Amino acid sequence: MKQPILEVRKLQKSFGGLRALDGINLDIHEGEVVGLIGPNGAGKTALLNTVTGFYRATGGTILFQNQDITHRPMHEIGRLGIGRTFQNIRLFRRMTVLENALVAFRPFADHPLRSLIAYRERRMAIARAMHWLELLQLADKVDRIASSLSYGDARRLEIARALVGEPSLLLLDEPAAGMNENETRRLVDDIAIVRRHVRAIVLIEHDMDLIRSLSDRLVAMDYGRKIVEGASAEVLNHPEVLKAYLGTDTEETVS
Ligand SMILES: Nc1ncnc2c1ncn2[C@@H]1O[C@H](COP(=O)(O)OP(=O)(O)OP(=O)(O)O)[C@@H](O)[C@H]1O
Ligand SMILES: [Mg+2]
Repeated sequence: MKQPILEVRKLQKSFGGLRALDGINLDIHEGEVVGLIGPNGAGKTALLNTVTGFYRATGGTILFQNQDITHRPMHEIGRLGIGRTFQNIRLFRRMTVLENALVAFRPFADHPLRSLIAYRERRMAIARAMHWLELLQLADKVDRIASSLSYGDARRLEIARALVGEPSLLLLDEPAAGMNENETRRLVDDIAIVRRHVRAIVLIEHDMDLIRSLSDRLVAMDYGRKIVEGASAEVLNHPEVLKAYLGTDTEETVS
């Protein structure tokens, strides 16, 4: 089998006595969309944060395209080709849609704000940003201020921004959170298109219909550990997974 794009080995992330990640092993392969599920507090976001260098691992290793990125700074990991969105939308609220997308342009990414004035690469950056904004159907909103966007548009702008960085691996943290049914349906179509432009996607979601329709396989976590991994139906009906969900006071249920 081909070398995985991402290889996470015995990854640990502790906050004081709390083990947010407790020895996670995970392989992500070329072409895959992997759904990451688990009850609130399972460590899903912590995993994304540690892989992207937003958190510093307290143990274990992360290989991305065969390079050890375990202790690399976040901007370097981004430049190597890992893009992400955030569970809580993080946009520059007072900047426009286009400006928000531009900050991910790789030559700008080290100094996102200062570099906005770098004129030389401006045209290229705008063309690139527009390409992804068009794909996510935001082209007619480029001059809108980010804070005026609907929830669905703001989430799609985050995805477009991540794509401007031309990631090989895209990590989406609850992209449908807060969306209504229509927006969620549209998001499913968008992610189906986006997957053709990246090498692999890791998708965290509590919406089980969404995760089932988009993922090639699922990884279930609880208490900072991987508990089950495999085909969607198998994982969603696995007793360990059912127990993990029932054992918390989360309102999400596995169906
Ligand atoms: N910066 C932090 N400082 C302290 N504890 C943290 C921090 N980030 C995460 N944790 C803890 O790590 C554990 C895992 O949290 P994480 O956010 O990864 O859960 P999650 O699976 O993404 O949950 P949710 O579905 O609610 O988003 C939780 O107990 C959380 O309180
Ligand atoms: Mg989370």
